[in-house]
Amino acid sequence: MSDKIAYARNGDIAVLTIQNPPVNALGHAVRQGLMERMDQAEADNGVRAVLIVGDGRAFIAGADITEFGKPPMSPSLPDVVDRIEASPLLVVASMHGVSLGGGLEVALGCHYRIAVPSARIGLPEVHLGLIPGAGGTQRLPRVTGVEVALDIMTTGRQVGAKEAAAMGVIDVVQDGDALENGLAYAEKLLTGGAKRRPVSEMPAPTAIDWDAAYDATLARGRGQISPAQSVRAVQASVEKPFNEGLLVERQIFMDLLKSDQSKGMIHSFFSERAVGNLPELKGITPRSIDHIGVIGGGTMGAGIATAALLSGLRVTMLEMTADAGEAAYGRIAGNLAGALKRGKITAEQHETILSQALNVITDYAGLSDADMVIEAVFEEMSVKKRVFIKLDAVCQQGAILATNTSYLDVNEIASVTSRPQDVIGLHFFSPAHVMKLLEVVVADKTAIDVVATGFELGKRLKKVSVRAGVCDGFIGNRILATYRAAADQMVMEGASPYDIDKALEKFGFAMGPYAVADLAGLDIGWAVRKRKRAEAGIEGVSTYADKICEAGNFGQKTGKGYYDYAAGAKARVPNPEVMDLIEAERAEFGSVSHDFTETQIVRRYMAAMVNEAAKVVGEGIARRPLDVDMTLLFGYGFPRYHGGPLKWADIVGLPDLLSDIEGYAKQDVAFWAPAPLLKELVASGKTFDELNKAG
Ligand code: CAA
Repeated sequence: MSDKIAYARNGDIAVLTIQNPPVNALGHAVRQGLMERMDQAEADNGVRAVLIVGDGRAFIAGADITEFGKPPMSPSLPDVVDRIEASPLLVVASMHGVSLGGGLEVALGCHYRIAVPSARIGLPEVHLGLIPGAGGTQRLPRVTGVEVALDIMTTGRQVGAKEAAAMGVIDVVQDGDALENGLAYAEKLLTGGAKRRPVSEMPAPTAIDWDAAYDATLARGRGQISPAQSVRAVQASVEKPFNEGLLVERQIFMDLLKSDQSKGMIHSFFSERAVGNLPELKGITPRSIDHIGVIGGGTMGAGIATAALLSGLRVTMLEMTADAGEAAYGRIAGNLAGALKRGKITAEQHETILSQALNVITDYAGLSDADMVIEAVFEEMSVKKRVFIKLDAVCQQGAILATNTSYLDVNEIASVTSRPQDVIGLHFFSPAHVMKLLEVVVADKTAIDVVATGFELGKRLKKVSVRAGVCDGFIGNRILATYRAAADQMVMEGASPYDIDKALEKFGFAMGPYAVADLAGLDIGWAVRKRKRAEAGIEGVSTYADKICEAGNFGQKTGKGYYDYAAGAKARVPNPEVMDLIEAERAEFGSVSHDFTETQIVRRYMAAMVNEAAKVVGEGIARRPLDVDMTLLFGYGFPRYHGGPLKWADIVGLPDLLSDIEGYAKQDVAFWAPAPLLKELVASGKTFDELNKAG
């Protein structure tokens, strides 16, 4: 008998307690156990009702995602839910923590549902590229009606107990202990003569305009197919008898399970959790952080300060002059007002943060008791070095000195201090209080507990933290520079920036690279190009991209860049001057122009991204392929359903990708030199994901 389900008698009630930590996922042993314990309860003399509860922190978090993709093992979850519902006994679910996916489906297989106020329900399968697969698409609409059921399924959002009760999913919301509440409720139902109430026997819900709902959901999904597929499954709940509807659901679920999108989404789910789990940090205690200093109150510094304040840290902001300090205060206050408006903080918290937790200063001495200082000053080595020399002089021993540089050498910055072991890179993405990614850049001498503190800070700020080694651009910006260069090559060969943006948006990026550049500000890339040319001793070069900037067009903030924003950002009207500049440059270099199909654009752009990513992993700048995948997902808008560039590469096949790269290399050997790691994987018939699993 399965030890995953404890069995106990309480008068005429059999209590089935699911014990599968950490979140009671419905793995094979749990499913088997539920079947056996239902048999046991029905055979147990005098039992009139069954109460199902979860041990630990949740009722049930859903199917065991680690089993997806493996050969199915009987009993299946749909069979378990049907078995529970068909019981002649009265079956009650008492829910606490989360009841997600298969967890909610088990609860819907029960005849009555009670929950504590903090309980949350949901059908998050869309986040795994799936639809509910154990009757959820057929039962939930019978309980809530079609509209509510579709909202829950297509968004995958978690719904609180009170709202779920208003929807009819939960019968009673009651404070207290789930087991005690459940027992009292079951007893009351028995005493009141309540009858079994199988959802499958409830009348079918009312139809809606299915095609319109399907089209609208597909459009919202930006290329993701599973939300729209759930519309078709719910349609079956209205149009077909219950059992036939279940078959439709099953078919769609199984088809999606085999899809590339669900492979990408499932990879994203596990990688998001694995990325912050570095073996070398096990058992390392982070330094304690309560008060942080931020130097520079521009957009980036103000964003970092805002994120820290929102997570409960005290912040001292250092600016050079009183006026600059006032402007920085204004930026932070503006960000906090936004957080208040969106309900992220209460009016009282807002007031306390501004009056007590934030301090703006103009003198370095005010940073002397900070536990960590993050500088976000102008991106130039000499400026950064000056800041670190001052920090070294004023900061207390053990304080962490962090640079938010996006490209510069953290070893060189650390070298000007007497304590390089305390120096680290913390690369935030703008706006820093919104963007989820944090690159934790580990320099040669950074102490391990400083690295652990970087990750701890990331956790506290609710970021996805990725460990990166030192190189120009670290993980993300280094790869970005390469795929942007590949896009620029295509422009020289005949694709327009608008063709490229369109193809990549179809691939799933929210914005193509040229629209992103306009949003970020074209002056940033211009400054980097000028710096690199100066470093290389190349003068007098001006590309079409430079010329756009020379004309004062820096993108959205000046109203013009690759696009003309006179009609608004959404209109995406090309700036007519851009193609003239491009044509002139093509003519100057005698480029032979040809048309690119959308597939060719995506293939080449992705090949550049994957090849550079493989170099980044091969050189140890990123520890594992999944670190690159998460960097691109959380910092660069890479579509989640492709799983990240290296998961995407595994799915399309590494040999084909390598042969594409070798093809492009015929034109530009240096730029397209295949990554040694990619060649090795192809030669040994392995995938990037196998490297993730190897740890
Ligand atoms: N299967 C397997 N493992 C799971 C899991 C699941 N459904 N849900 C969570 N876990 C694991 C996590 O991977 C993590 O493992 P590690 O500690 O080894 O990293 C551990 O449980 C704890 O999870 P979190 O770190 O995410 O903890 P949390 O408290 O932040 O969040 C949670 C808990 C809300 C349950 C969150 O984990 C979550 O959203 N899980 C996924 C829920 C889900 O998608 N369920 C639907 C499954 S599909 C389904 O049910 C299909 C069907 O209809 C048949």
